[in-house]
Amino acid sequence: MNPWKTVKLTEYESHMRLSSVYQLQTLNAMMKEQLAVCEAESVMILGIAGGNGLEHIDREKFTAVYGVDINPDYLNACRVRYPELGEVFKPICADLTDDQLQLPCADLLIADLLVEYIGYECFCRIVQKVNPKVVSCIIQINTEASFVSDSPYTHAFDGLSRVHHQMEEGALTLSMQKIGYPKTALQSVDLPNGKQFVRVDYAKQF
Ligand SMILES: C[S@@+](CC[C@H](N)C(=O)[O-])C[C@H]1O[C@@H](n2cnc3c(N)ncnc32)[C@H](O)[C@@H]1O
Repeated sequence: MNPWKTVKLTEYESHMRLSSVYQLQTLNAMMKEQLAVCEAESVMILGIAGGNGLEHIDREKFTAVYGVDINPDYLNACRVRYPELGEVFKPICADLTDDQLQLPCADLLIADLLVEYIGYECFCRIVQKVNPKVVSCIIQINTEASFVSDSPYTHAFDGLSRVHHQMEEGALTLSMQKIGYPKTALQSVDLPNGKQFVRVDYAKQF
């Protein structure tokens, strides 16, 4: 049983938008830039949660927006919140750690705060299946002991440490380089509580 299946979306989002955490707002602004990073007709968003940032989808540009998540309630929330996307939004309820998982191809692959929960190796297998032109990831760099910021909602994330992997940009970049996706861009954004988001983009070599 993956612990993300028991985290309520309201608790996740209430925690993430606290002024002391400010991650929902930061991710929203960063997602807007990620969606414009390359010429793309299709995008796949791994670990989409409640669809934060989907309001930035340019419907003139994208014909398919795949949202992948293990929690079906999150995908339902995406559908309800963004009815304007209609058939363009294609939810995929799946466990990304399942070796047998089949996924459609997409031009652009976005993974924000997701690699933390599946690890580098599994992430690289997913990239090879989706075969995108460009991959854009955001990982969280922790400057203190806990990967979950302190807040009244912290208890909701108690089970996540079981599946959490500590991230390092260098190690992710090395894994991506090995599968033919060298780094093309790097950006760091400081958060209020001393944590940092690192956005790193990769482009398919051949
Ligand atoms: C920290 S949240 C990030 C959500 C969103 N990308 C954001 O930036 O706010 C991680 C998301 O990944 C999903 N997730 C975690 N492990 C997963 C897995 N093995 N397969 C599919 N989705 C997973 C969770 O359900 C959750 O929605």
